[in-house]
Amino acid sequence: MQYSFTHQHLSAKLAEIPGVTVRHIDQIPHEGMHFDAKVEQAFWDQADTIVLEFPLYWYHGPSSLKQYLDDILTTDWAFEGAHKIAGKNLLILTTTGGLESEYQKDGDHGFTVSEVLTPFKATAHITKMNYLPEIVIYAAKLQDETELQNQLAKVCEQIAKLTN
Ligand SMILES: Cc1cc2nc3c(=O)[nH]c(=O)nc-3n(C[C@H](O)[C@H](O)[C@H](O)COP(=O)(O)O)c2cc1C
Repeated sequence: MQYSFTHQHLSAKLAEIPGVTVRHIDQIPHEGMHFDAKVEQAFWDQADTIVLEFPLYWYHGPSSLKQYLDDILTTDWAFEGAHKIAGKNLLILTTTGGLESEYQKDGDHGFTVSEVLTPFKATAHITKMNYLPEIVIYAAKLQDETELQNQLAKVCEQIAKLTN
């Protein structure tokens, strides 16, 4: 994710919003390939809304995000009686290479992005989180800089509203 042009801009703008804490997954210390569950869970404990922000890679989040979720959504914390994140909002903020028109049943990708994100919806469901409508920035690389900056500003406004 450190290669992502759009996400570098987006995360820098998000970090300026009062009440928002940005964690760059590629900068979080690892133990081997694993994340420290207790450290990361403490960040989630303090938050009302968790925003997972990532470029779509082969219809998933990047592998680092998958590893992060594998490590921190532990049984004794996220579900099975503990449900420490129940009631928190989960918001997926993703960018695509594909156009919105291609993300349709009869389009090149064959599914909407919302359908592609089903594993995140299932994760919210089992952990009793509240899955918010995802925010998708389509064809990020095809937009000119002004268009993209305007879209990023709108996204930041949406996120800022969640902190009120
Ligand atoms: C390994 C890899 C896999 C990708 N898979 C998809 C995909 O499944 N669907 C899609 O729309 N874009 C895909 N893309 C394009 C990225 O999602 C797109 O470049 C990114 O969201 C735009 O932000 P950027 O400025 O970081 O490039 C992929 C890119 C890479 C490098």
